[in-house]
Amino acid sequence: MTEWGGGYVTDIAYTTGWYRQQSPSIVSLACLLGGVASPMPGPDDEVNYLELGCGHGYGAMLLAASNPAWRVTAVDFNPAHIAAARDWAAEAGLTNVTFLEADLTTLADDAAARSIPEADFVSMHGLWSWVPAAVKSGVVRLLRDKVRPGGAVHVSYNALPAWGSAVGMGRLLRLVGRQHSGRSDRQAAEGFKFVRELLGAEAVQLKRSQIVQVLMQKLDELPIAYLAHEYMNDAWAPCFMADVAEALAGAKLEWVAAANLIENFAELTMSEEQRALVNRFDDPLVRELIKDHCIDRLLRHDIYVRGARRIAPHQRDAALMDLSISLNIRPNELPLEAEMPAGRAELNPKFYRPIVGALADGPRRVSDLLQLPEVEGKRDNPAELVGILVGSELAEPALRPDAAPSAAAQRFNRVAARRLMQTEPPSRPVGVASHRLGTAAPAAVLDLVVMDRVLEGGGVDDVMQFFNKTNTVSDETRLRAIVTSSIEDRLPRLRASGVL
Ligand SMILES: C[S@@+](CC[C@H](N)C(=O)[O-])C[C@H]1O[C@@H](n2cnc3c(N)ncnc32)[C@H](O)[C@@H]1O
Repeated sequence: MTEWGGGYVTDIAYTTGWYRQQSPSIVSLACLLGGVASPMPGPDDEVNYLELGCGHGYGAMLLAASNPAWRVTAVDFNPAHIAAARDWAAEAGLTNVTFLEADLTTLADDAAARSIPEADFVSMHGLWSWVPAAVKSGVVRLLRDKVRPGGAVHVSYNALPAWGSAVGMGRLLRLVGRQHSGRSDRQAAEGFKFVRELLGAEAVQLKRSQIVQVLMQKLDELPIAYLAHEYMNDAWAPCFMADVAEALAGAKLEWVAAANLIENFAELTMSEEQRALVNRFDDPLVRELIKDHCIDRLLRHDIYVRGARRIAPHQRDAALMDLSISLNIRPNELPLEAEMPAGRAELNPKFYRPIVGALADGPRRVSDLLQLPEVEGKRDNPAELVGILVGSELAEPALRPDAAPSAAAQRFNRVAARRLMQTEPPSRPVGVASHRLGTAAPAAVLDLVVMDRVLEGGGVDDVMQFFNKTNTVSDETRLRAIVTSSIEDRLPRLRASGVL
């Protein structure tokens, strides 16, 4: 812990990651599904994007690399994060992203804030429920000054009541961990070791919490830097959605939708009986609280708008019809069922198969997809099509459906490939920049490395040699199979997404 950290973990850097809820196209879709005018950027719009608590800035760089006309500003108070992000951005030749080292507690009152343009989109991922009240109030003051009318804000946080049964575990592992000297990651490891022991000794409060049980099962797979930033901060406190809404109202922000798009569909998130109970109320805060009792929402991703303009259903449908989407899977990978909060939902093959088939070679407009002669089913419900395909991460919105792969995005991706393979396991999911999508296409570190080698003219053997050199290979036969599948299955998808 450092004095300037105010109780936030500063002695170990955070992990590198991309979270699609931070993407303006997903944020805009959420607005439409929430019945609010979409701030969806046009292909040539000059968008101002602001990220608060950006960590290593991977997400900010992905967006800057995908959208050369955007101006991206990313803030973090950890100089190690900002130094790493600036270094990476310089190597990738990104000139449209600025990394600012500043404490959000006071940034709104600093001269440094003057350099931040009025933002069209703001994202705060992994910040709100991990920082003290003074930081939250600084954030609200900054948002009050910097979000343009009509602008949208993404905020993620650990939510109540879902976290209720494990709040005690959080406190326990932090206090026990702190009894040990050493860095926050070691303290987190010690804290979790003790929680595991106490759970083994049948401590009733741990035993009855499903969250604790599940967390303990997957603990070994989680990076220790992530665990330290997640659990070792003094101020960590899961919160109710209504309390976040009340705080953000101080910046004239109004809740409009969930950025996990599926959560905006009552039929996919709740049983008929639960929906009947929710429908007794109009107040979105009451409705969300009821929903939060019905589903397992540990991490909420919410979208707020400053000056939300309500639109009629036909206006929403017209905007959705106009959207282009790009497939994240091969057409033959279309699942026949998808996991939804309310249970498994069937995807009618007579409706979805022709649609994903038409998306095989690249993005298509939703209206064109719904007009395909082979499609059997409802052609007048673009919200359902977009909600299911994009919400289940089978597809991504495409801001520039006809754009060629851009040199800026490609350069960034190649730098990312070389950097990430030094620090992350090959299977780690990270995004890859795409000018055509205007956001990241989903890809694992291994896909980035494969892409980099293929652009050099290499093949499977070349990629294997590359991994062998870095000694990251434990099972060569398995890795060869994965590399082959990446070249044969993933690269065609990334080509269709305009990545290469
Ligand atoms: C969990 S990390 C999330 C990083 C990034 N958004 C991501 O998703 O990869 C939270 C970040 O907030 C930063 N942070 C915490 N308190 C802050 C403060 N008072 N001012 C600025 N940044 C802060 C931390 O340094 C850390 O990088």
